[in-house]
Amino acid sequence: MPNPSINLALALASAALLAAPARATTVDIHIECNKPTVALSPHLYGLFFEDINFGADGGLYAELIQNRSFEYFAVTGDGKEKTGRTYQPLTAWEKVERGGGHCDIAVEKSQPLNDKNPSYLSLKIDRAGTAVGVSNSGFDGIRLDEGARYDVSLYARSAGWSGDASLTVALELADGTVCATAAFTGVGGDWRKFTGVLTANKTTDDARLVVTTAGQGALALDMVSLFPQDTYLGHKNGLRKDLVEALKDLGPQFLRFPGGCITHGFGLDNAYRWKDSVGDVALRRPNWNRWGYHQTYGLGYFEYFLLCEDLGMLPLPVVPVGVSCGFNKPYQVVPMDQLQPWIDDALDLIEFANGPVTSKWGAVRAKMGHPQPFGMQFISLGNEEHDTPEVRERFPHFVKAIRAAHPEIKIVGTSGLGPKLPLYDMMTQQKVYSSDEHYYEKPEWFIANQHRFDSFDRNRPKIFVGEYASKGNTLFNAVAEAAYLTGVERNGDLIDMTCYAPLFARVGHTQWNPNLIYFDKRKVVKTPNYYVQQLFARNKGDVYLTNSVTQSGDAPPPISVAATLDRSAREVIVKVVNPTTEPVDARISLQGVKLQPQAKLMSLAGGRDAVNSVEHPDTIKTETSEITVAPEFQHQIPAMSVQFIRVKAL
Ligand code: AHR
Repeated sequence: MPNPSINLALALASAALLAAPARATTVDIHIECNKPTVALSPHLYGLFFEDINFGADGGLYAELIQNRSFEYFAVTGDGKEKTGRTYQPLTAWEKVERGGGHCDIAVEKSQPLNDKNPSYLSLKIDRAGTAVGVSNSGFDGIRLDEGARYDVSLYARSAGWSGDASLTVALELADGTVCATAAFTGVGGDWRKFTGVLTANKTTDDARLVVTTAGQGALALDMVSLFPQDTYLGHKNGLRKDLVEALKDLGPQFLRFPGGCITHGFGLDNAYRWKDSVGDVALRRPNWNRWGYHQTYGLGYFEYFLLCEDLGMLPLPVVPVGVSCGFNKPYQVVPMDQLQPWIDDALDLIEFANGPVTSKWGAVRAKMGHPQPFGMQFISLGNEEHDTPEVRERFPHFVKAIRAAHPEIKIVGTSGLGPKLPLYDMMTQQKVYSSDEHYYEKPEWFIANQHRFDSFDRNRPKIFVGEYASKGNTLFNAVAEAAYLTGVERNGDLIDMTCYAPLFARVGHTQWNPNLIYFDKRKVVKTPNYYVQQLFARNKGDVYLTNSVTQSGDAPPPISVAATLDRSAREVIVKVVNPTTEPVDARISLQGVKLQPQAKLMSLAGGRDAVNSVEHPDTIKTETSEITVAPEFQHQIPAMSVQFIRVKAL
């Protein structure tokens, strides 16, 4: 076991070195390719998805209509402050009155579609004109692509109708130019669903969906929806293809979802109760989002499990443990005598994911089109809970119930907020499989703490680094995270999973920075941090290899190194990280196996403060080339870089 005081000295020294003027230096990197130390977790690198920064609605979820079911309202508290936006039942909707037509519109609740979806739009049309109705501008205008097909659907009913009873749905530009149109006939006194397909004749970023009629009377609309048919794998109610592809390219091994703070909620009333997020989308209960906006739950638990299946990720759902987010005041807790439904939610979730089609929740999954189980192996209890007596009292009841009913499920606990891990002691007592720790710190912290895990007690629960980021999207931030990950791999016997946070941010709708991926309607910006995650996830290897880094003189080497072996590919992977602004000359020795001289070099390098942006998305990205290696070879590690060298064993 490494000596903690040496680690501290190393950490302080390397922090001092970063602060000191950079200087050229030479290091010796020695790798013993035939001396494995620890096996790396098969699911070490994954994703953390939370609906923050419009990550779900307006983001990954491909729905193009905003406020499709008229359930928006003014979000209170912390939420509103986060966005500076106010919401109301007609957000994104506008009245349309053409050719002398006139109507009054209002959101009503007296004859709802169902009790989960209580609000709907009521139009009282007293003058028909040529066309009267409403338009929806989506999320800051609807993107259309010429020739692309869009599924449109809505629920409608009418009363006291005269004249033309049909509805026209059209995609239009602001000047009224029509990009696609379809007609629905047969609107009557009861709610009825209408569906159609629109093919766009133009490419634009600023269309709107316009629903009108030439008739007169009372009309009610609800669940007005528009999806591109070209979702990821063409799934209905699906996900944005380019964003899922960006996730797939990362090579993720698990997905932690649906949050973050949204799981335990701003208060218990908006905690994420997974049962609200499954079944027919018209029957899902929308929720407001503690980040200041609204969630349709159209991207719900079924869709998360499906995404895991599509990308080969282990699902890692997070369920609340009967307390609200500790940051929010007043802190809310479920009384002990009312805790059982929250525990049942956790148990029923396992049944939804894994149960037979004959079980209550397995039948719901089957009805949604997936009779096969999703193969859930882990459940995460709580999100960075604060250390309170209420958490300490409630948490064990969840553990006990899950263990009794599902001993096969691995329980992931929460170590609480920050690197001091206030709840790790309780997780140890509870004997959870692993414990989730979160920290957002400066890049210097990540560099100085790369030896953090070397001295952790191996008799305690495994570690899940479930949220971390170095507070920036510059190359230096990414390089600092890479340095930290070399320490993660060295401690691969202890660390079971890691994931960066947050994952997504829609440009212009961020409540939190930095994030891993930025996007707008058309573009996807992969940050330098993204490329670091990708390098590590796609080049993990199976076992860690004995290695050392030395430098002549007293100073500690400025660079971080990890080395692993990919057994099936028979490749040694050397990972070097240089967080300084000077190149470093390295003498690399690869001992213990015969190696092929041609090796693959993957390099992420550039200016310390370089970032990627919508305008310049490729300033920093991984470049791949071939280099010649030998049992001992010279290699210059560029300034501010992360380099991976894959060498084939003969
Ligand atoms: O990742 C953003 C937020 O940071 C998460 O919702 C929360 O768990 C943490 O405080």
